[in-house]
Amino acid sequence: MSEIQFKKKRWLPIPSKEVSLVSLALFAFIPQGFIVNLAAMTVIIQPAKKISGRLRLPGDKSISHRLAMLGAIADGKTMIDNFATSRDCASTLSCLQGLGVSVEVTDTSHVLINGRGLHGLSPSRRTLDAGNSGSTIRMLSGILAGQPFVTRIGGDASLEQRPMKRIILPLSEMGAQIEAREGNFPPLTIRGGKLRPIQYTLPVASAQVKSAVLLAGLYADGTTEVIEQTPTRNHTELALQSFGADISCTEQGMAITGGQKLKGVRSSVPGDISSSAFFVVAAAILPGSELTIEGVGLNPGRKAFISWLQEAGADIEVLDVIVQGGEAAGTLRVRASEIEGGRIAGSLVPQVIDEIPTLAVLATQTREGIEIRDAAELRVKESDRIQSIVENLRSMGASIEEYEDGMHVAGHQSLHGGRINSRGDHRIAMAFAVAGLIAQGGTIIEGSECSAVSFPGFFETLENLVMR
Ligand code: S3P
Repeated sequence: MSEIQFKKKRWLPIPSKEVSLVSLALFAFIPQGFIVNLAAMTVIIQPAKKISGRLRLPGDKSISHRLAMLGAIADGKTMIDNFATSRDCASTLSCLQGLGVSVEVTDTSHVLINGRGLHGLSPSRRTLDAGNSGSTIRMLSGILAGQPFVTRIGGDASLEQRPMKRIILPLSEMGAQIEAREGNFPPLTIRGGKLRPIQYTLPVASAQVKSAVLLAGLYADGTTEVIEQTPTRNHTELALQSFGADISCTEQGMAITGGQKLKGVRSSVPGDISSSAFFVVAAAILPGSELTIEGVGLNPGRKAFISWLQEAGADIEVLDVIVQGGEAAGTLRVRASEIEGGRIAGSLVPQVIDEIPTLAVLATQTREGIEIRDAAELRVKESDRIQSIVENLRSMGASIEEYEDGMHVAGHQSLHGGRINSRGDHRIAMAFAVAGLIAQGGTIIEGSECSAVSFPGFFETLENLVMR
């Protein structure tokens, strides 16, 4: 995959004035107002007047993971255009290669997967590395649970802190044997085999858990049913259908019968709607901005932040919607406007879960602020996102109250530049780049390289649209 390769080792915090020669050389090529210190992996964001222009985004991360995994266990070839350039999706491809799947990546975002059929994966001699990707480890575990061999799968330091009991419980009920550190954390050792169908009511609203059970359902002897109390993104259901699987969806959930053969597809991935959020919010809050984002995925389980913003007064038009492989995509046109603010809670939370860091930044510019509740899941993402948002917004002078399950961000606040600790969390690094655009003075984003987890090239793309 094409992305800047960063050294695995963390960044050493050095004051921004003590830049190395390497970074000084780099500074020479970077436009004014935007300083990348690659050696130290910091970015300094300077305030912007507005953001304007037109862009297309790399392919959606969630959809890319699923197409790759299904392609691997389908019969025949799967060709995927605009495959996510994200580091997370590269982790999925490398895990699939570890299981004997031949994967060809051309043109950075065109991926060809030679499917091995439902029962054609082979054991990996090495521990599979899911990197930073919760989607990779959780969803792939569903497939591994159905394999007649043992697989060990782990990831980076952040992934090793993320809860896996949520997939271990249903997959064990289906008959897989899974060992985990303290029964909950990666690395996982999965002894797969013949599976029993189950009826499973999701205890947490999680598309990853739903997907793991549905994928394991392909290997079960009978019909597996998943019941969702709160709807989550349905990319797995749509992808399964596009590969020819018979999956029935009702209001409460979905059912899949094991043993079905999947047929390789040719598919094109829409632009990542979660990545669009940084640009949408920047354009909505920087006066005079006007931005057009083409080819953005508009899956109903993902676009709720757009509807929420529209209701709160944002000027966002959704144009030219088409549906491809079951997934909707279209153009977003955003102009700056006054935004009221409001509340994000209950069943809305899983629909906007990845956009909350950016919405928290936007909250500071709203008339009434935003209250976020029922969002304790944020504490077990790539970082404890409630803590990451609260600490970093406070470091920029914002007034924000922290709750166990959310936060209240007051409206009408001015921010000053600060030193942002991304905690290695891509969405925090990028959300606070947007905060930097509206702050007084420069904002240093520490550990900015983690943005490549979902969006390599994010800072360059942002800088090309910003006017100072
Ligand atoms: C994802 C589901 C969400 C989301 C994550 C991607 C997916 O996680 O936060 O970034 O692709 O299914 P959960 O399923 O843990 O809520």
